[in-house]
Amino acid sequence: MIMKIKRISTEETYAVRHPVLRAGRPIEDCFFEYDDHHLSIHFCVELDGKVISVLSALPIQSNIFPKLKAMRIRGIATLDQFQRLGYGSKLVRYAEEELKKNGIELLWLNSRISASEFYLKLGYKPKGDTFNIDGIGIHQKFFKSLIL
Ligand SMILES: CC(C)(COP(=O)(O)OP(=O)(O)OC[C@H]1O[C@@H](n2cnc3c(N)ncnc32)[C@H](O)[C@@H]1OP(=O)(O)O)[C@@H](O)C(=O)NCCC(=O)NCCS
Repeated sequence: MIMKIKRISTEETYAVRHPVLRAGRPIEDCFFEYDDHHLSIHFCVELDGKVISVLSALPIQSNIFPKLKAMRIRGIATLDQFQRLGYGSKLVRYAEEELKKNGIELLWLNSRISASEFYLKLGYKPKGDTFNIDGIGIHQKFFKSLIL
């Protein structure tokens, strides 16, 4: 099996975003604000040419650390049959390296509570109280500095 990690377009993320993050909802619900911003970057893991894991970095500052050059990580997902095989972690580490090269100092995200363990293992720190996002569930804010 040939594995590649590479950049893709917004629309190419939908092959994973739709079944994993927006199952049973219209495909339009896969679009996130800032997806098409010229500074946004979408990354994927491809196995034999098939996109199986995706992650997006969007140019949105953190209001908690406003002085750091930040990006918001959003839409992380791995197709069900490829979860727990290490692909999501590889993708996050690759994206962190690329974003660091671009001068990004801080990454932040709103994690589903069910994915907290995933971010903790990757060195992300929780901050603040948990909060509810309608229709999706309880979330926690996480941060990771890229400059330490
Ligand atoms: C969270 C997700 C992106 C992780 O991707 P992945 O390719 O499965 O990640 P990895 O195989 O690298 O997992 C690394 C570690 O994260 C943790 N982890 C991953 N998925 C988990 C899950 N569903 N529940 C609990 N822990 C999980 C585990 O500790 C895992 O290590 P282990 O397999 O050795 O126990 C993937 O499970 C997913 O798409 N989940 C559904 C969508 C989702 O919740 N996305 C995050 C939105 S914030």
